[in-house]
Amino acid sequence: MEKRKNFSSKLGIVLASAGSAVGLGNVWRFPTEVGEGGGAAFILVYVLCVVLLGLPLMVSEFIIGRYTHKNTADAYRQLAPRSGWIAQGYLGVFTSWFILCYYSVVAGWTMKYLVEAIVGGLSEISDSSAYFAAFSGSTWEPLVYMTVVMLLCHLVIIRGVQSGIERSSKLMMPLLLLIIAMLVVFSFSMPGSSAGLTFLLKPDLSKLTSSVILSAMGQAFFSLSIAMGCLCTYASYFTDDARLVKTAGSVAAIDTTVAIMSGFIMFPAVFSVEAVTPDAGPGLVFITLPHVFSIAFGNVPLLGWFFSVMFYLLLLLAALTSMVSIHEPPTAFLLEHFKLSRPVATTIVTVVCLCVGVLCCLSFGPLADCRPLFGLTFFDFFDFVSAKIFLPLGGIIISLFVGWRLDRDIVVSQLTNNGSLHIPAWFIAAFIFLLRWLIPLAVGGIFIRELGLI
Ligand code: TRP
Repeated sequence: MEKRKNFSSKLGIVLASAGSAVGLGNVWRFPTEVGEGGGAAFILVYVLCVVLLGLPLMVSEFIIGRYTHKNTADAYRQLAPRSGWIAQGYLGVFTSWFILCYYSVVAGWTMKYLVEAIVGGLSEISDSSAYFAAFSGSTWEPLVYMTVVMLLCHLVIIRGVQSGIERSSKLMMPLLLLIIAMLVVFSFSMPGSSAGLTFLLKPDLSKLTSSVILSAMGQAFFSLSIAMGCLCTYASYFTDDARLVKTAGSVAAIDTTVAIMSGFIMFPAVFSVEAVTPDAGPGLVFITLPHVFSIAFGNVPLLGWFFSVMFYLLLLLAALTSMVSIHEPPTAFLLEHFKLSRPVATTIVTVVCLCVGVLCCLSFGPLADCRPLFGLTFFDFFDFVSAKIFLPLGGIIISLFVGWRLDRDIVVSQLTNNGSLHIPAWFIAAFIFLLRWLIPLAVGGIFIRELGLI
């Protein structure tokens, strides 16, 4: 078994963690939720959820990971030997595995669209909705793209923490941030974009129904990569001088900024084309945008080409860095728990994901009518179980664990790096209060509601 390595620098720590957080959730899911949730009002609730629920949970995962320097399952085993809490460690490992199976399908779609954008195929599509249905519903093409992105992710993970995860994040994240900035400028410069800005900036509080609040909370968890062991596993590679609260703050700030910027990219562009509505749903990225690109740049094809290539490159980079972070928890578990070598552990995770991923991938075509579990297709089942059941459940368990069970000395020594940082007493008290009361009650509330909605 290889010797356990840490990330080599604080920048690497922030970029890798931000790479995990910034993903399809930001560029694909967030604008869709904003569109459906009524614009700025949704954003307001979302930011509150990030600060009050997301940040304390992220710091909690960091504490568990960095204190133990172990994979998630063994971390809980060390902190609470022979207790039911160990189940949370396994939940993290297996949920990550679950998420990867369907996340890689959508990541594959982004690669297909990137390839089409590069060869100019997107501009020739006349009916983008039929095009998307035909592509995602076919058998081989989506499978091939899914396999390719999975292999890319495999190649990063197999190289380990420093030369795989850290190096790729240091390369991909700055590129991603640069592309975002460029696209925002582009999008603002489109005629008619101000309607999109008004939609994003002017809160319409009448749209704030309880279901919008629930989806804002779910979105915040998903987007910050919370409760699945990703951040806990990454934190197990943090160096002892990394500042946990500061790192969590930077990661949440980068993640939220990228999400809001994605809204700034999408909506001005969408509003600048008549007959395209902001609440177009999950198809916004794969159906509405190709349409927007082709119409808006009908007169300036080169600009349309550039805009679309950059956009799908952004999506692919975001998806890849997140896939890497979802791949690592099960890999680290197999590697350390069963004392396998990294190549073997990585290969097992990849192969299992590919086999199960086939079911998710074909859910849009040949297996669309195969609904053995709760009447859902495989894709929807994996999405539902992980995002709507395991995610809130994991959030509740982690907050209870760190709030009530974990030794307070461990919490304080991790937050203050063994006393070398000054963290005010009120901050620690507020942190514990949120974990003990607010988070379990608020998330428990959602969870019960969600289950009631099955
Ligand atoms: N946060 C990523 C996104 O926004 C996805 C992701 C990575 C994730 N790791 C996770 C979601 C763990 C939930 C749990 O797309």
